[in-house]
Amino acid sequence: MNVLLIGGGGREHALAWKISQSPRLEKMFAIPGSPGIKDFAECVENISIDDNAALVDFATSKKIDLVVVGPEAPLVNGLVDALNDAGIKSFGCTRDAAQIEGSKIFAKRLMKKYNVPTAEFEVFDNVDAAKNYIRQKGAPIVVKADGLAAGKGVIVAQTLDEALTAVDEMKTFGTAGSKIVVEEFMDGEEASVLALTDGETILPLVAAQDHKRALDGDKGLNTGGMGAYAPAPVVDEKISALVTEKILKPTIAALKAEGITYRGCLYAGLMICDGQPKVVEFNCRFGDPETQVVLPLLESDLLDLMEACASGTLSGKELSWSDQSAVCVILASGGYPKAYKKNLPIDGVTKAKSLGALIFHAGTKLSDGELVTSGGRVLGVTVTAPNLREAVDKVYRCADVIHFDDMHFRRDIAAKALH
Ligand code: AMP
Ligand code: GLY
Repeated sequence: MNVLLIGGGGREHALAWKISQSPRLEKMFAIPGSPGIKDFAECVENISIDDNAALVDFATSKKIDLVVVGPEAPLVNGLVDALNDAGIKSFGCTRDAAQIEGSKIFAKRLMKKYNVPTAEFEVFDNVDAAKNYIRQKGAPIVVKADGLAAGKGVIVAQTLDEALTAVDEMKTFGTAGSKIVVEEFMDGEEASVLALTDGETILPLVAAQDHKRALDGDKGLNTGGMGAYAPAPVVDEKISALVTEKILKPTIAALKAEGITYRGCLYAGLMICDGQPKVVEFNCRFGDPETQVVLPLLESDLLDLMEACASGTLSGKELSWSDQSAVCVILASGGYPKAYKKNLPIDGVTKAKSLGALIFHAGTKLSDGELVTSGGRVLGVTVTAPNLREAVDKVYRCADVIHFDDMHFRRDIAAKALH
């Protein structure tokens, strides 16, 4: 098969690495790709991932059999619909389905209508009404902007004052903030369950746990994710069965009842509260960094599974898993998630690989042949080992040989699971 991969982050590097292991792969292209993805795919940088028409033309001209869409923006932007219209198969959901991530209000209303467990909520387009509701409910309480706000549209307010200020701040998210969701605070432990689906059959992947805050001890600002590990023991067999029966199946069925066949990866961000999983959010794509720990544990042929999702032939397929543990530590630019420097030379990647790490590039580029930083999250260092303790020890031995100026990373990835 000829494959076109859309995206260029750590998630897409992990996807490219895994897809490249498929005996069914003939040739892979990536738009835009990255210095890491270049090892597996021909990277094409002069086409924008927002330009559906140009992407369809490219896929047609290269006789692409499957387009794999990594990030949410092109899904929300209807890339899969455009590819479908042109008769090109793709792994990813349609624009209608992508609302499950693109609009928090769509997702919350869907869950309420079909009894999928999630926090209670109200939607407001009026600041005063939102504030009155918050005063009634009290803190802690959660204030969210509708729409994609690059992970920054959520404020978990511990006090009433914080919550009221948050409502005013939502205006700064532009159109994303014109509607405000106020929801019940859920107390528990978070986990991410990603599932492959063709709209009928659902195959959940091993559960992972992300680390969203910038600093150790879950302090500091929210980021795209500073590290992850899998499997996450908080999702034991019992919880895992509940996730499938009470969340994944009803959600895919709910979408179907609304006229939407969901194909691709459905990401359920969960809060496990007193032994019951509840949905924090859905994403319409693989998680990042979760993908960087889940795929190294998958023994099945990912390309084969993706093609089955796209074709509606997932029924009868099974997943096979390694019994190891995987840990990923994100090496970030100093200052991230706020402003940070770019173009800083990166050393030690080859050394880390020789120690047994998988290095997934998130924000790097080549400058005169030298690898330099080009994003907030720069590299994901992933290792697998027979157990989590060994994986954690080894991942930090590998991370410690990599260097760029102002580099920072969390030292406590997976610590919760070790206690
Ligand atoms: P979201 O973008 O909706 O995933 O929210 C970002 C983060 O805010 C989540 O990963 C949680 O840590 C936190 N969060 C969101 N909603 C809630 C909630 N209702 N209760 C507690 N924490 C929440
Ligand atoms: N790791 C969080 C996300 O992918 O949205």
